Amino acid sequence: MKPIQIAIDGPAGAGKSTIAKKLSELLNYIYIDTGAMYRAITYMVLQEGINTGDIDGIVKLSERIEIRFENDSIYANGRNLDHEVRGIEVTQSVSHIAQIPQVRSILVKIQREIAANHNVVMDGRDIGTNVLQDATLKIFLTASVEERALRRFQEMIGKVENVDLEAVKADISKRDKMDKERAHSPLVKAKDAVEIDTTNYSIDDVINKIIFLLKEKISITN
Ligand code: DC
Repeated sequence: MKPIQIAIDGPAGAGKSTIAKKLSELLNYIYIDTGAMYRAITYMVLQEGINTGDIDGIVKLSERIEIRFENDSIYANGRNLDHEVRGIEVTQSVSHIAQIPQVRSILVKIQREIAANHNVVMDGRDIGTNVLQDATLKIFLTASVEERALRRFQEMIGKVENVDLEAVKADISKRDKMDKERAHSPLVKAKDAVEIDTTNYSIDDVINKIIFLLKEKISITN
């Protein structure tokens, strides 16, 4: 039987990872945070001192990195990078790395391999449009830029010094623009995706809505 695949796409801060993770726990599916994979490559690029403009160097390095997930943790060449991939420098550089088509095809291959054999909830930017074009259910999560910036800001308080809401908002807007306007697999809603605006909804409201939509597609027994 074909595994069940739930694709969740949308801009930064729309709630994708929180919702995808919780949903995967409820359904007992594997959660794949594809953003963490782009972030892991970015972290390794920065660690090796490779310039973000050195495409050849980045592609060569990407070919040498073995990326895998274990219990929702991300590993690159056997090293756990859960903490490292959330660093500010990584966040600021990842959109550049995610534009490189060769890096994308390396990671998309891994993503498809996992989804071929397991029920998955996979979140990212191009899951419904490219990675899992035949996904069982495609969701496109959005929220206003103000709400998304506020959520990121609240996450950062206590972890990062001198956080500034306006700066967070500017950073999110910049990343949105790069993700939407890039040549390869830009952030766009798949034609058959259901759009959910999370601005005024709780996490549980959104999860219930997704489970309702999933039940329309398949019969869940538990
Ligand atoms: O969701 P995130 O903030 O962790 O994503 C990090 C970056 O990676 C973001 O700039 C978009 C990019 N990305 C992508 O291009 N394709 C994906 N499937 C996931 C993330």
